[in-house]
Amino acid sequence: MMNTGLITRYTTALYSAPEACRPRYDEFRDMFSDGQLKSKIWLAEELSKLQDLSGKTVAIAGSWYATLAFILLEYSKNKNLNLVCIDIDKRCEEFARHLRKEHESEIVKCVTQDMFRHHYTEDIVINTSCEHLFNLNDWLNLIPSGVTVVLQSNNLAHPTHVSCVKSLDEFKSQTLTNFSAVLFEGELNLGVYTRYMIIGRKA
Ligand SMILES: C[S@@+](CC[C@H](N)C(=O)[O-])C[C@H]1O[C@@H](n2cnc3c(N)ncnc32)[C@H](O)[C@@H]1O
Repeated sequence: MMNTGLITRYTTALYSAPEACRPRYDEFRDMFSDGQLKSKIWLAEELSKLQDLSGKTVAIAGSWYATLAFILLEYSKNKNLNLVCIDIDKRCEEFARHLRKEHESEIVKCVTQDMFRHHYTEDIVINTSCEHLFNLNDWLNLIPSGVTVVLQSNNLAHPTHVSCVKSLDEFKSQTLTNFSAVLFEGELNLGVYTRYMIIGRKA
């Protein structure tokens, strides 16, 4: 169950953040859509069943406006996660300055960076934007062996979705050679579309 603090965190930031970095109306609508929130809560629940998140370092590639980072913080009992949110869109980093509470600036860092240029040293690497990448395997190859990797994709046709998949099997075939062990795989029916998730150990 999500706490309403997540929504007020974002609506409060809308008052102080400059217009140029604020999410547009359609982005805000999509970020807080039923499917997006259920997908991220699903990820947080399944990941925290597999690993104690406390004390872990986590990279979120293609993090958008960092909703997943704040949801993961809720799931980390001691709130001592270290999260780095990586997005190529500089509005996300700027807006995040208005989202974080003062004491959180070290816990949730947001950087403007191409995810293909990040040096992945974190314990857990997450990418829920796989449908936006032409070359998922090239990106997976940047992650060191042994790291826990969490991937989500979906079957929703959309102009910005360049590599949607039609099934969990198709998603697995995009990625599987890159895992030494699959810790979780599943699909979530969200009505309009289906979200697929794989959690694995990087080969
Ligand atoms: C629409 S959003 C997020 C959708 C995603 N399904 C989710 O659950 O959050 C996709 C994000 O990926 C980012 N992105 C796309 N390619 C990227 C890249 N090469 N490096 C970093 N961020 C990237 C975009 O800027 C955008 O913020």
